[in-house]
Amino acid sequence: VGELPFSPAAERNRGPILAVLQAQLPARARVLELASGTGQHAEHFAAAEPGWDWQPSEHPAALATLNLRLLRLDLPNLRPARALDVADRGAWPPPGFDAVYAANLAHIAAWSAVEAMFAGVAGVLQPAGRFCLYGPFHRDGQPTSPGNAAFDAQLRDPGNPAGTHQGVRDDRALFALAAAHGLACIADVAMPANNRTLVFQGHGDACPC
Ligand SMILES: C[S@@+](CC[C@H](N)C(=O)[O-])C[C@H]1O[C@@H](n2cnc3c(N)ncnc32)[C@H](O)[C@@H]1O
Repeated sequence: VGELPFSPAAERNRGPILAVLQAQLPARARVLELASGTGQHAEHFAAAEPGWDWQPSEHPAALATLNLRLLRLDLPNLRPARALDVADRGAWPPPGFDAVYAANLAHIAAWSAVEAMFAGVAGVLQPAGRFCLYGPFHRDGQPTSPGNAAFDAQLRDPGNPAGTHQGVRDDRALFALAAAHGLACIADVAMPANNRTLVFQGHGDACPC
């Protein structure tokens, strides 16, 4: 696997994330993954849950890298990756997904793209569908650990080669954005390394987050 795109973090977190998805999603579900990256999550989750019809996606600029891994796989429930820049309203697939999943996207994409992401998610989810968003998030405006504070500072540093649009997002801002699109946070699951999985659902119960 030496030539394949590989993320050590994705290898570490795929087990804990899978456990959350298994708890939050039905055994049979159409799932749209945003920002599939190296494809390690798509591979691991589709292999573990044959009842999940898994649709990976990536920004067009990173699709070829993702396909380096995915095109080698032969999993009947893993669909070919599709190009999806979450900021491009016209690029989203038609509705009908039981779940949308995204890991480590909200702090990488610009805030305007995060806004577009929630609009896109609300547009593709079935009425009771769920959106599982994994990553580091500030809690009520504060970093949840010194490590996340340092990571946020690094992302926002004017010298960040990716630009100045990145940053760890605040959960309250995400909850407000979700609410504007008819989604409520129904679970806030603590994950290793001070990450969290936020689970959103349309017409959800009162937010315990
Ligand atoms: C830190 S990586 C996370 C990859 C993978 N989800 C994981 O957790 O290992 C961030 C990913 O976001 C993707 N990305 C950035 N901006 C995007 C956008 N506007 N639309 C879709 N994907 C985007 C990048 O191409 C990259 O693969």
